[in-house]
Amino acid sequence: MIQLESITRSFAVGKEKIQVLDNISLTIDDGEFVAIMGPSGSGKSTLMNIIGCLDKPSSGQYLLAGEDVSGYGENELARVRNKSIGFVFQQFHLLPRLTAKKNVELPMIYAGVAKTEREERAEEALARMGLHDRMDHLPNALSGGQKQRVAIARAIVNQPKLILADEPTGALDTKTSMAIMELFQELNREGVTIVVVTHEPEVAEYAHRVIMVRDGRLQSTSAADWRLSK
Ligand SMILES: Nc1ncnc2c1ncn2[C@@H]1O[C@H](COP(=O)(O)OP(=O)(O)OP(=O)(O)O)[C@@H](O)[C@H]1O
Ligand SMILES: [Mg+2]
Repeated sequence: MIQLESITRSFAVGKEKIQVLDNISLTIDDGEFVAIMGPSGSGKSTLMNIIGCLDKPSSGQYLLAGEDVSGYGENELARVRNKSIGFVFQQFHLLPRLTAKKNVELPMIYAGVAKTEREERAEEALARMGLHDRMDHLPNALSGGQKQRVAIARAIVNQPKLILADEPTGALDTKTSMAIMELFQELNREGVTIVVVTHEPEVAEYAHRVIMVRDGRLQSTSAADWRLSK
């Protein structure tokens, strides 16, 4: 599914060049549930942005479902994102003036789905997230956990094979966090590949494999090894 080969990412800041990702090679198979952990500033979000085709590597090769996206421009990357990837973020990234249902419809508008089908699928995804009675609420009239459920409904509505979540429980209490992780677990059991960045060991427990990032490099472990090392 995801094949990163010798990926680097550096940023120019003034005259300096900061190397944030240093020679990352990583394979994530179809159907995996992977957690990415590591200290603040180690490069987790930078790595997720590349995996999610939101950013491009400075060098190296990235194959997503066998498609070499390394050299793609903005439009091509946007097409890949819309077709293949669902995103969930710590701060939900819902549009504040749109109802829950309209927020969930957005990716389908970009994908050119007709209105009736869009509404049907948005309602279905929200109902699945337990939000059938919250469809017409604006985001600020929803709790944190409910906002994240709307975001997950939006992420799954185009039926992506891959969901990327950067600290999806970072703004939620423990109980709500576990409920959100159970939703990811359920999606994973249906075959969706899940990659989650987290600082929380309880969240990483849901993954089958934990990948540690330190100073822009990978330290890969199985979940079992990782538990023993805690
Ligand atoms: N656009 C940018 N320009 C310059 N430096 C950047 C840019 N984006 C990220 N960095 C730097 O890259 C490093 C890694 O950032 P990144 O956001 O990937 O860390 P992270 O592991 O996600 O941290 P956190 O756990 O705090 O979210 C940081 O030192 C950051 O300052
Ligand atoms: Mg981050």
